[in-house]
Amino acid sequence: HPIPRFPADFLWGVSTSAHQIEGAVAEREPSVWDVFTAEPGRVKDGSTAAVACDHVRRHGEDVALLAGLGVNAYRFSVSWPRVNAPGGLDFYDRLVDELLAAGVRPVPTLFHWDLPATLDWMERDTASRFAEYASVVVDRLGDRVTKWITLNEPAEHTLLGHALGTHAPGKQLLFDALPAAHHQLLGHGLAVQALRAAGAADIGIANSHGPTWPASQEPADLEAAAFYDLLLNRLFAEPLLLGAYPEGIGELMPGDVAADLKIIGEPLDWYGVNYYAPTRVGAPQGTEIEFGGITMPAELPFSVREIEGVPVTDFGWPVVPEGLTELLTTFKDRYGDRLPPVVITENGCSYEGLDDQARIAYLDGHLRALHRALEAGVDVRGYFVWSLLDNFEWAEGYARRFGLVHVDFATQARTPKASYAWLRDVLQAQG
Ligand code: FCB
Repeated sequence: HPIPRFPADFLWGVSTSAHQIEGAVAEREPSVWDVFTAEPGRVKDGSTAAVACDHVRRHGEDVALLAGLGVNAYRFSVSWPRVNAPGGLDFYDRLVDELLAAGVRPVPTLFHWDLPATLDWMERDTASRFAEYASVVVDRLGDRVTKWITLNEPAEHTLLGHALGTHAPGKQLLFDALPAAHHQLLGHGLAVQALRAAGAADIGIANSHGPTWPASQEPADLEAAAFYDLLLNRLFAEPLLLGAYPEGIGELMPGDVAADLKIIGEPLDWYGVNYYAPTRVGAPQGTEIEFGGITMPAELPFSVREIEGVPVTDFGWPVVPEGLTELLTTFKDRYGDRLPPVVITENGCSYEGLDDQARIAYLDGHLRALHRALEAGVDVRGYFVWSLLDNFEWAEGYARRFGLVHVDFATQARTPKASYAWLRDVLQAQG
């Protein structure tokens, strides 16, 4: 294959999130994830993120790893419970300075699932609290941070945290969880207003998306797949890009939805996409389904099916690079001029081992697929690998390793994997 070249001003980065790497729990308020992990049986290996990668103390070493990798951007998240604690913003203040000194552009996400334990996205008021918190952060960092992300994956946070209960806060509300989605989206819109009022001008979101492949051409499978696509993709993209919910959804949301949609639909400067894999979906099968670490109850109006004939990661997630091209070209076809420039804010895989040839193959395939989307006319401006470090992978604990850098959680020793050297060489060659 010819080596694809990317534009010279392309953003190349890696992503992390506060709860998954920071540790230093005693120096911040508790979050819903602290409460959740303290409940027996919630996290598969019984672990917590109390220490995680000890990043709050080892940030210097981690910034050096970023510099050595040669990325020009770093997506991290700001912990709202840390900002609430006295002196909490000092940490991010220092981190931003260190990143800039290393030539790495800081790209903070304001919310990556670690809600202060006293708050609840089922409450409308949380949206206003989020915008106030966004103001506090931008007032402190906005002189040096120029690119912002409001939310990470409100779809997963709604589905896993509020509908199925496999993530914090552990609510099992099924479709009654929809207000949590609406309130996150409203919080996003209010935060965009707050950031812009403070002078920020380059604001996006990180939404998880993937193509939905129907299990067959039977009407029941097509219908189930279309519904899944609506829940995962359209419900979170369309209020932002079109200022409207897909048909039948707005009626299920609380509050003055028409007025809220004006706030939610404020045009974005760019649109972040987290892509891992497509999902194959068919009609419900009347049984509980275990998939990629998630148990889905029998009463859902769809069932997730295996994608046959493709490799899977150690997490069991299918490896389908061309799904990224399909996703981006589909979004361009669906939303046309309403789709702002796109940045891939997460893409990566979980594999064991330091000589991680499978991760290299995954990233190589996805970069080629991304380049095909560029050639097809999708305005893609950047790509962030999930993740810099092995870290606390939510309900899976430390059992899933997504890092370009291995972390020995007993000693906190960091060891770059083969994929780290590979990506460094790709970045040096601009392709
Ligand atoms: C995404 C999350 C991220 C990480 C990856 C593997 O859904 O945003 O925190 O857990 O999956």
